[in-house]
Amino acid sequence: MDTGVLLAGIPLASPVTLLSGCVGFCEDLMRLEGFDFSSVGAVFLKGTTLEARRGNPPPRIAETHGGLLNAIGLQNPGARHVVDTILPAIQHLPTRLIANIAGSSVEDYREVARIFDDSPVHGMEINISCPNVKEGGAAFGSDPRVAARVVETVKQSTSKPIITKLSPNVTDIGLMARAIIDAGTDAISAINTVMGMAIDLENRRPVLGNGQGGLSGPAIKPIALLAVWRIHQVAGPKGIPIIGQGGIITGRDAMEFILAGASAVGLGTSLFRNPLASSEVLSEMMTWLRHYEADHFDQIRGTLAWPE
Ligand SMILES: Cc1cc2nc3c(=O)[nH]c(=O)nc-3n(C[C@H](O)[C@H](O)[C@H](O)COP(=O)(O)O)c2cc1C
Repeated sequence: MDTGVLLAGIPLASPVTLLSGCVGFCEDLMRLEGFDFSSVGAVFLKGTTLEARRGNPPPRIAETHGGLLNAIGLQNPGARHVVDTILPAIQHLPTRLIANIAGSSVEDYREVARIFDDSPVHGMEINISCPNVKEGGAAFGSDPRVAARVVETVKQSTSKPIITKLSPNVTDIGLMARAIIDAGTDAISAINTVMGMAIDLENRRPVLGNGQGGLSGPAIKPIALLAVWRIHQVAGPKGIPIIGQGGIITGRDAMEFILAGASAVGLGTSLFRNPLASSEVLSEMMTWLRHYEADHFDQIRGTLAWPE
């Protein structure tokens, strides 16, 4: 059975990818016995900014019912360090490496994209869920015009495929999808985390050092599925692929995203519990393919029968 998918011109051996911020720069996975990179379609590397960042004060992670709340604050060693020191040690891995780029101004995104353009990564994912410090602190991902500007700028700064990662913290995610497609994105990742808060009753304080954070894991799967379906209505006719993500634990979860219109899927929070989940998810997805009497995921993609 052919499990390969073509994502924005990047051939992936499998539709199952590993998500940004959940596997760092592959350091732990490379040490993990039994981990097979060749069964992973792509690894989305840790969010990277122009300058190194120390991230938010602790605690940065809190468990909630069915979910994980995080406010890491984009801790990373800076784009130059990633390209000069980290990539040479992981570029041989038998999978595709996608940089995840972030910034606090449009110019930051441009500079980071230029640095990664001259590197062995196969593509760049733009994280637009970052505060636009220059223009009042609202996230780039919540204003379609600003999101489009970031995408256009990155597109002009690299010849590599670009994937824009949409935030669910908006009123109309279809509108955001339309804006970034018009701006030239080659693919869409959906969804990033859902804003939330956990409260420590004894101390009358938020649990996270940053106050608020992003919720991930099974708790957000229904939000993610509807978002992917909405985006698919816009992106499908234009041939723009979607990497569905948000709470995927099993192959069954993953197939739900394929039915909703995703060409590939991503595992994030589930890896903290089971770092070997990717091969299990892929083999379960293939069982579902056989159940549908299909030879390829493309035959199932977007075939959800929405009620009339
Ligand atoms: C601890 C943690 C760190 C994350 N860091 C990033 C990041 O640096 N850049 C990014 O675009 N998304 C980041 N994410 C979001 C994930 O890549 C993913 O989109 C989200 O968690 C939804 O998928 P999941 O429910 O399978 O985890 C992070 C998520 C977690 C849990």
